[in-house]
Amino acid sequence: MSKKESFGSKFGIIAAAAGSAIGLGNIYRFPCEAGANGGGAFFIVYLGIVLLMGLPLMVSEFVIGRRSGKNPVGAFHALVPGSKSWGIIGYMGVLCAFLILAFYCTVAGWTIDAVGKSIINYYHGLDKDTILTDFNNLMNESWQPILSEGIFVFITAFVIVKGVTKGIEKYSKILMPVLLGILIVLCVKSLTLPAAGKGIAFFLKPDFSKITGEVLISALGQAFFSLSLGMGALITYGSYISKKDNLTSTAFAVCISDTLIAVLAGIVIFPAAFTFGIKPEAGNELAFVTLPMLFNQMAGGYFFCLFFFLLLTIAALTSSISLLEVPVLYLTEQLNISRKKATVYSAIAVFILCVISSESLHDNTPLKLFGLNVFNALDAFTSKFLMTIGGLLTVVFIGWKMKKAHFMDEYTNGGKVNMGIRNIMYIIIKFLAPVAILIILITQFIK
Ligand code: TRP
Repeated sequence: MSKKESFGSKFGIIAAAAGSAIGLGNIYRFPCEAGANGGGAFFIVYLGIVLLMGLPLMVSEFVIGRRSGKNPVGAFHALVPGSKSWGIIGYMGVLCAFLILAFYCTVAGWTIDAVGKSIINYYHGLDKDTILTDFNNLMNESWQPILSEGIFVFITAFVIVKGVTKGIEKYSKILMPVLLGILIVLCVKSLTLPAAGKGIAFFLKPDFSKITGEVLISALGQAFFSLSLGMGALITYGSYISKKDNLTSTAFAVCISDTLIAVLAGIVIFPAAFTFGIKPEAGNELAFVTLPMLFNQMAGGYFFCLFFFLLLTIAALTSSISLLEVPVLYLTEQLNISRKKATVYSAIAVFILCVISSESLHDNTPLKLFGLNVFNALDAFTSKFLMTIGGLLTVVFIGWKMKKAHFMDEYTNGGKVNMGIRNIMYIIIKFLAPVAILIILITQFIK
C-alpha cells in the first residue's frame, strides 16, 4: 500500500482494517483473557467497552488519519500546528508496535509449529496429556521456536519490502470468510460435546460479583489489542480512507466482525476445554492444546486442523504486517530512510526481542521484568499501559485540542453523513470515553 493511493472501495478499507484487527488477539488471546478473568463477567464488560470506548476511539483514529493524511507521528502536528508534543502518541505507538510484535511473533511461531504438526498428522490419536507435554516442551526448547519465529518475522518483512501488502489483503478477503466458516463448523461440533453446557455457562453467563478492577483493565486492554487501537495503527489506515466513506459505519463493521470472531472462538474453546479437562485459566494451552484435541474428535479432523492453523497464520500475518508498518512508516517518512532498509532494521530488532521473549518462557527463566517473564511483561505493559494511555490521549486530543468544527466537518464528510449522531459521538469522545478509561486506569494504579 503506497502512501498516495487510497482504498478502491469501502469494502476494501473495511477488509484491510479488519485484517489488522482479526488475528491471534481474537482466537488465542481473547479466550485466555476471558478464562483468566471469570468468563461471563469479562464477556459482558468486554462488549460494553467495545461499544462505548472501542468504537469511538476507532472513529477518532480514522478522523485524525483522514483529516491529516499523515503517519501517526506527523498527524497530530498537522492537525493542530504548534501541538508538536502530541506526536508523543505516535512515538508511543512506534514503541508499542515493536513490543507487541515481539511477543506476537512468539505466538505466531507456535501457530506455525502447529501447521507443521498438522501437515504430518502428528496430533492424530494423541491424548490430552501428550499434546500438553509436547506444548510445554516446545516452550522449553531453544531452537525450534526461534526457527518458526524467524520464518514468521521473515515473511512479514518480505511482504512489506515487496510492497505486496495489497496482494495479501486481496487473498485474505477470500480467506477470512473461510476461517469464519471453519469456526462456525467448530462451534457446532463443540456445542455437542458432553461439557458444552458448562463451558457456555462459564463463558457467557455473567456473574456480576466477579467484576473487579483487574477484569476492567484486562477487558479494556483486550479490546484495544483486538481492535488494533491506541497506538496509531488505524490512523495510518484512516489516511487511506476516501473522503466519501462513512467513518462510523466503517468503524462499526470492523468492530462487529472482530468481536464476532472472538465470540465464536470462545464458543469453540470453552465447551471443549471443559470437556477435555483443561482449566479456563490455563492460558496458552486453551488454544494450542484444546483445539488439536477437538480436531482429533472430528470427522475430517486432519483437514480442519490443517486449514484452521494455516488460516490462523494468515490472519496473524495480516495483523503483523499492520504492526510492522508502524515503525517502517515512521522511519521512512520522518527519518527519510529507504523502505527496504527501514523494514530490515525493524525486522531484525523485532526478531531479537522476540527470541528473548520466547526464551523467557523456559521453566526457571532468569529473563524477567517486573516479576513476570519477558513474554508476559511485554504483553501486560503494552495492552494494560501503553495502548490504554495512547487511546486516552487520542480521544482527549479530539475532544479538547482539535477544533470542534474540524472534527464535525471530517466526521460528517462536510455535512453529508452522521448528522443525526454527530453530537452524541462528540460527547462520548470528549467526556465519556476519557473519563471511563481514566477511572479504569486509576483503579488499576491504586491496586
Ligand atoms: N489486533 C491484532 C490481533 O487481534 C493485533 C494487532 C495488529 C494490533 N495491529 C495492532 C494490536 C495494532 C494493537 C495495535 O491479533
